[in-house]
Amino acid sequence: MRLKSPGIRASGINREDIFVTTKLATQFKSYECAASAIDASLERMGFDYIDLMIIHSPQPWDHFGEDDRFVAVNQGAWRALEDAYKAGKLRAIGLSNFQAQDIDNILNACTAAPMVNQILAHVTNVPGELIEYSRQQGMLVEAYSPVGHGELFKNESIVAMAEKYNVSVPQLCIRYDLQLGLLPLAKTANPDHMKNNADGDFIIDDGDMDVLNGLETIKDYGEDPDLYPIDVARKRRVVERATDEAGWGKETPKGRGLGLAFHHSFVSYTAVVFDVEVDDAGEFTIHRADIAFDCGPQANPERIRSQMEGACVMGIGDVAITGLSGYAPG
Ligand SMILES: NC(=O)c1ccc[n+]([C@@H]2O[C@H](COP(=O)([O-])OP(=O)(O)OC[C@H]3O[C@@H](n4cnc5c(N)ncnc54)[C@H](OP(=O)(O)O)[C@@H]3O)[C@@H](O)[C@H]2O)c1
Repeated sequence: MRLKSPGIRASGINREDIFVTTKLATQFKSYECAASAIDASLERMGFDYIDLMIIHSPQPWDHFGEDDRFVAVNQGAWRALEDAYKAGKLRAIGLSNFQAQDIDNILNACTAAPMVNQILAHVTNVPGELIEYSRQQGMLVEAYSPVGHGELFKNESIVAMAEKYNVSVPQLCIRYDLQLGLLPLAKTANPDHMKNNADGDFIIDDGDMDVLNGLETIKDYGEDPDLYPIDVARKRRVVERATDEAGWGKETPKGRGLGLAFHHSFVSYTAVVFDVEVDDAGEFTIHRADIAFDCGPQANPERIRSQMEGACVMGIGDVAITGLSGYAPG
């Protein structure tokens, strides 16, 4: 079969020998949007089917943490996943970041129940009640960020315990999730790390599991707590900080148009597009902002930049702002 994904094609591996998961992006909250997003994913990857597709979050990122649980539209998106599952386009369907009430919302209206809930779960942060509830509803619980985005390397107790077992910190963290009956999803861009992570042939004894269970929860994930975990004002802060750092409003043309901001942190690469107006005094007003791309740390900034047509990068360093692109809002 035709594979567009160049890494897979170059490896010579059979499609049947890999398990491909993708997420339905958080903004696709209706049957129609979700159905076309599923087809677009298949088309982009060049696959006839995807092994697992999950709804990334019950709330769009820009409503993350608000009261609205997007009940009807999530049910609509779920129907699109069900139809694609029944049509053989998706081999399994599931959820991510869904709390008990969000799971109930899907169960109340579904004809095929969710098979997976993918949630944040790592040493120091294990949401026991949600795990138990997800399991009771028949779901496999996948633990994302088992190494806490790399933050667990900084925890002296974890480092000491890894040394005691003569394993790496990620090996210990992955093994911990496995012993809790979770499916850990460790990420690495390094083949040696990948081999190391797959080598989990040891057992953490009960006493040490108790020690790990009792460690204090990580409160933020490093240098950029504004970006991760995500909160309601996230987009605005990204734009405001990016514009501030790059001197937007001092060097830009006057008028109204489309601006682009990039922010690169150790956990994500974010590009924000915004409708902005710059007045004669150089002050700017942001009328609207949307995240255009939101990628993991392995994303290639140049690739993302090249997708931003008309971009005229003005900033330097890890934050760049483009000039007005000539876009005229209606
Ligand atoms: N559903 C959601 O909302 C959601 C949110 C976040 C993440 N996720 C998923 O969870 C997966 C992992 O997430 P994550 O990247 O946030 O966190 P993670 O897997 O906890 O940590 C990744 C970090 O650990 C390092 N690492 C991994 N194995 C290592 C080893 N053996 N030795 C040294 N360093 C090692 C990686 O660096 P190197 O690359 O250098 O090895 C990377 O910096 C991703 O695939 C993502 O799709 C899902």
